[in-house]
Amino acid sequence: MTSRHRSTATAAAADTHDYGARGQRAPISGGGAQHPAVAVSQLRKTYPGGVEAVRGIDFEVAAGEVFGLLGPNGAGKSTTIGMLTTTIVPTSGTARLVGYDVAREPLLARSASSVVFQDAVVDRGLSGRANLELHARMWGVPASRAVPRIAELSDVLGLSDLIERRVGSLSGGERRRLEIARALVSEPRVLFLDEPTVGLDPRIRHELLDVIAGVRGRGEMTILLTTHYLDEAQRLCDRVAIIHLGEIVALDTPAALLAGMGNVILELRVDGDGQLALDLLKARGVAGSLAFAIGSTLTLPLEQAAVGETLTAIDDAGLRAGAVSTRPPSLDDVYLRLTGAPLGAPS
Ligand SMILES: Nc1ncnc2c1ncn2[C@@H]1O[C@H](COP(=O)(O)OP(=O)(O)OP(=O)(O)O)[C@@H](O)[C@H]1O
Ligand SMILES: [Mg+2]
Repeated sequence: MTSRHRSTATAAAADTHDYGARGQRAPISGGGAQHPAVAVSQLRKTYPGGVEAVRGIDFEVAAGEVFGLLGPNGAGKSTTIGMLTTTIVPTSGTARLVGYDVAREPLLARSASSVVFQDAVVDRGLSGRANLELHARMWGVPASRAVPRIAELSDVLGLSDLIERRVGSLSGGERRRLEIARALVSEPRVLFLDEPTVGLDPRIRHELLDVIAGVRGRGEMTILLTTHYLDEAQRLCDRVAIIHLGEIVALDTPAALLAGMGNVILELRVDGDGQLALDLLKARGVAGSLAFAIGSTLTLPLEQAAVGETLTAIDDAGLRAGAVSTRPPSLDDVYLRLTGAPLGAPS
């Protein structure tokens, strides 16, 4: 997975822009607050060779919103971020950042945003501070503003004791925090985070989630993040788009996506074909329309009070149920119901 983004971000030169090109800061009067932070319409990317990575997606992200793109490996998340950050040229459709069209006004669109890519882009030979200063210069942030900003970010991100060290000597989690500091130095109006917590140990992951939640709590910045982790999406995002095979299959608040999934999930394994067993239970009115089968595992969204009678009805239907368990519904259930594939599985 780690090499994947590099391949998307640096694919054939004719197909991509160089993200590292010197940016200009967007005039504040340009893409003003009247525009959505992100507006995507019928956006499509077909890579040379014919892979339809993104198949005509539409969504808008309001200023100040935290928006999650959730989907399995290969769903098209990084390709979407690549198009929004001007590293990948869309095949068709439009994408605007604070009103600037990424294809027609790439410098302005880029100047309004920062990105933490799936793979690290900080220079391992330089110190943390040198990396942050370099990014600030490239983004046209005057030194008088960059110096206090770097001090503030180092403090917030717990980098103060690490910032003079060569990046190559930092741990993965420390480097990730530096990447986020780097992205924030230019005070972007839109921050893109492509799987910000992948590969981190649980402690650092939770620390980083707190940092992102803190950035979110502090104000105006819009955040678009991708993740495989449903708990992350539930914890951080105002709204979530579930993306599968290059299409958005659901888009709503986590609460709305979970609504209708009952207040408890009854999960059980049956002998033989799960779909046949589910069809039988549906025909007998035991399972509702939101129930689904994957392999021989049945997932039945229920109200807590109905668990006992449902199990009796399953028994009455002549099905032998094993590995019976109940748990609260999660976005995972929503995702599985919509796509029939577990998150993290190749699509
Ligand atoms: N440069 C490229 N050339 C051809 N196909 C590509 C290229 N980059 C990505 N793809 C393909 O496009 C599809 C979407 O890839 P993308 O990297 O956007 O997925 P993703 O949702 O970010 O996945 P992951 O969770 O693994 O990071 C995949 O089938 C991938 O193999
Ligand atoms: Mg990706």
